[in-house]
Amino acid sequence: GGLVWRGCSAGCDTEDGTAGTLSDGNLNPGDKLEGSDAAADDPVHLKRRVGLFSGVALIVGTMIGSGIFVSPSGLLERTGSVGISFIIWMACGLLSLLGALAYAELGTMNTSSGAEYAYFMDAFGGPPAFLFSWVSTLVLKPSQMAIICLSFAKYAVEPFVSECEPPDALVKLVAVISIVMILAVNCYSVNLATNVQNIFTAAKLVAIAIIVCGGAYKLILGNTRHLQEPNFASSTATLGNIATAFYTGLWAYDGWNNLNYVTEEIKNPSRNLPLSIIIGIPLVTLCYALVNVSYLAVMSVSEMADSEAVAVTFGNRLLGPMAWLMPLAVTISTFGSANGTLFVAGRLCFAASREGHLLDILSYVHVRRFTPAPGLIFHSLIAVAMVLYGTIDSLIDFFSFTAWIFYGGAMVALIVMRYTKPHAPRPYKVPIIIPYIVLVVSSYLVVTPILDKPQWEYLYATAFILGGLLVYIPFVKWGYSLPFMDKITVFLQMVLEVVPTSTTFE
Ligand code: ARG
Repeated sequence: GGLVWRGCSAGCDTEDGTAGTLSDGNLNPGDKLEGSDAAADDPVHLKRRVGLFSGVALIVGTMIGSGIFVSPSGLLERTGSVGISFIIWMACGLLSLLGALAYAELGTMNTSSGAEYAYFMDAFGGPPAFLFSWVSTLVLKPSQMAIICLSFAKYAVEPFVSECEPPDALVKLVAVISIVMILAVNCYSVNLATNVQNIFTAAKLVAIAIIVCGGAYKLILGNTRHLQEPNFASSTATLGNIATAFYTGLWAYDGWNNLNYVTEEIKNPSRNLPLSIIIGIPLVTLCYALVNVSYLAVMSVSEMADSEAVAVTFGNRLLGPMAWLMPLAVTISTFGSANGTLFVAGRLCFAASREGHLLDILSYVHVRRFTPAPGLIFHSLIAVAMVLYGTIDSLIDFFSFTAWIFYGGAMVALIVMRYTKPHAPRPYKVPIIIPYIVLVVSSYLVVTPILDKPQWEYLYATAFILGGLLVYIPFVKWGYSLPFMDKITVFLQMVLEVVPTSTTFE
């Protein structure tokens, strides 16, 4: 049969509200695209293949990435006290858990993929949902990639440089190479990307286990003195400092909402989504607590605050001839996390472009490999630019500020829908106090750094978010399109060999 191209428009949604034209996660090479066996206008559903175990793995595998290996130093530096740092680490875990529980209500109530995007659409309509997809495609997802790949690079070059701090240009170069590698994996095949994700998740848990065992060994030997000086008094923390310390800590926990991006693929989501959250996030919190204790069992507070790469310092102190294990483990962990991040970014592109909210080309898939290549390439290009012009710390602040505006927004969506859709089925209903708590904390996180230390960056970020309206009104609302856009789309389609997802082979 020949190739029949059908453009997808908003009309693709099926009656039960689940959009039925996308198969991103299930586009395995060799699979036929959906619709091939079914009658042309049969509602087609995504395959539900994520069970409880993979659900937990998806959460844990994304959350544990670079943060626990780079953030502890930054957090100590920002608070100046072991005690306060530890409290912040635990508070970040709690906040992530509360946020995720609220997301569990949202995700079981509206089961379409895309997380915030879908909830904003439901609660507030098109423009806020558009602004989210605009910011996440252009800023959030690429900055996540950039931060993780910079951390990857930092650890990857560590064993090969003799000076204390590896040259900046080298780190950036390696970061760019890692982005290209991850892009290649994700463009090559969806199966390869999922396998990379699984193997690397297992590897990072082994790395955590090594650190925790090493720390326990030192503690048993009686090396507890650094843990006995909580230094509450010497703390340098101001309110704004604490908020940015939270940014550093929350970065390590980011990804707690990752399962919500793929709800359409979860088996029995009303049970498995909340359950994966309740198992996954406390598990990560426990790991982080133990790792922090282990670090301090091996090095002093000032050594930890000064260390460029804590996990490497840890390895050098404790593992002797096996010290190379640590940088290796961290590169594996970060590579896996970056892989998962790019993977999810592909899905977000789909969710937004099936509503006509993104350039069509970003939702197309490769004709033979069925991977969402254009969206992935686009994300990676922006991530490369961020790697070249940013630093890990500045990117983390910038990212967290923007991300928590939207996490707070999702809480507002939940609260609003309790009033506007009181009777909608809610298989999991979160105690209403929880979204209020998260909303208050997220407002604090967004507002205090601005008041404490006004920086142009925060203004730029806000202007950028609202600037999205300048794109939304003409191009989405009025449906205006640039005259040369069709030509560019066709050109890119030929170069990249990509087609719309609603393509059927008949
Ligand atoms: N928490 C991860 C880390 O420590 C970063 C996760 C990035 N966020 C995401 N949604 N993929 O590196």
